[in-house]
Amino acid sequence: MLILGIETSCDETSAAVVKNGNEVLSNIVSSQVEIHSRYGGIVPEVASRQHVLEIVPIVKKALKDANVSIGEINALAVTNGPGLAGPLMVGVNFAKSLSYSLKIPIIPVNHLEGHTYAAWLEYDDPAIDPGFPLVVLIASGAHTHLVLMSDHLQYRVLGQTLDDAVGEAFDKAARILGLGYPGGPAIEKIAKESTATESMPRAWLPGTLDFSFSGVKTALLNRAKALGLYSDQSESRDASLIPTLASAFQEAVVDVISEKATRACEINGARGLILGGGVSANGRLREECRSKSEVPVLVPAPKLCTDNGAMIAAAAFYRFNQGPNELTLDFDAHPSLVMA
Ligand code: KG4
Ligand code: ZN
Repeated sequence: MLILGIETSCDETSAAVVKNGNEVLSNIVSSQVEIHSRYGGIVPEVASRQHVLEIVPIVKKALKDANVSIGEINALAVTNGPGLAGPLMVGVNFAKSLSYSLKIPIIPVNHLEGHTYAAWLEYDDPAIDPGFPLVVLIASGAHTHLVLMSDHLQYRVLGQTLDDAVGEAFDKAARILGLGYPGGPAIEKIAKESTATESMPRAWLPGTLDFSFSGVKTALLNRAKALGLYSDQSESRDASLIPTLASAFQEAVVDVISEKATRACEINGARGLILGGGVSANGRLREECRSKSEVPVLVPAPKLCTDNGAMIAAAAFYRFNQGPNELTLDFDAHPSLVMA
């Protein structure tokens, strides 16, 4: 079964062809990072317009790279939330038109479910599949969720952020230190050059599996200002301490997330821990989860952690097989769609 997956929920236009839910024949991602970086973050209306310009060429390229014609596609999958309203509407309306004209089914997919199923693109192998229940950590630019997955498509949210998403915190930290956008990769890169030791506060929120990142972000801001390192003070700043502050921030965040993710596994008797979402591309997060976890940690390749169409097609494969499979266009884009 060939599914064409379309993802436009944020600032990546992506289309992918996936065979039988796990074989990626193509996965084209066009990032708008350069366009938004001059504003220090995503401008939703600019993102929508860019998706309109990109969606047709990206879908054509996905088909070409997969070496399949549009007539060979069996079903379409599209992210219908959560995400930015305008960008979601571009993908949903494009996919609906394609479904209508080709008379093939369309499967709306929750973006968070997509991040979860990215793991199946690499681990759908009975030899290494730990079985259910699984705990899923979704750490992205807009979400920080710990989810218990009792079976395919069965989720219970165990904890989530009470304020900033972890990716958003990385992005804001990078802005404080004048490292540009997106912040996560910039912080990770410069943190490797750290030579001194600094410590940042951790919000443990005892007795819960929830998160809070606003405290560590404020601590970083105050420390950066005290050291004359805040990006606005760039004229006079001594940049040699930036790697140390970046590392201290990253370590505080990674410590809390990896601790809570592994505790969630213990409490719920999970047989594996899945990492998903853009922040899961972070090497220190992967390392710490692996070193703390007593169950296998399933982490997709970094390019499958960040937004992409293949993960949407993978999730759709399981939804489609669950049925009912009639052709319906009766769904909308939902910016605040929850995982259920
Ligand atoms: O999942 P994603 O591509 O988009 C959303 O659904 O939000 O995640 C984007 C987020 C951004 O905040 C970015 O800074 C963060 O993922 N990110 C990272 C890394 N790569 C991307 N954060 C930490 N370390 C990284 N290596
Ligand atoms: Zn995402």
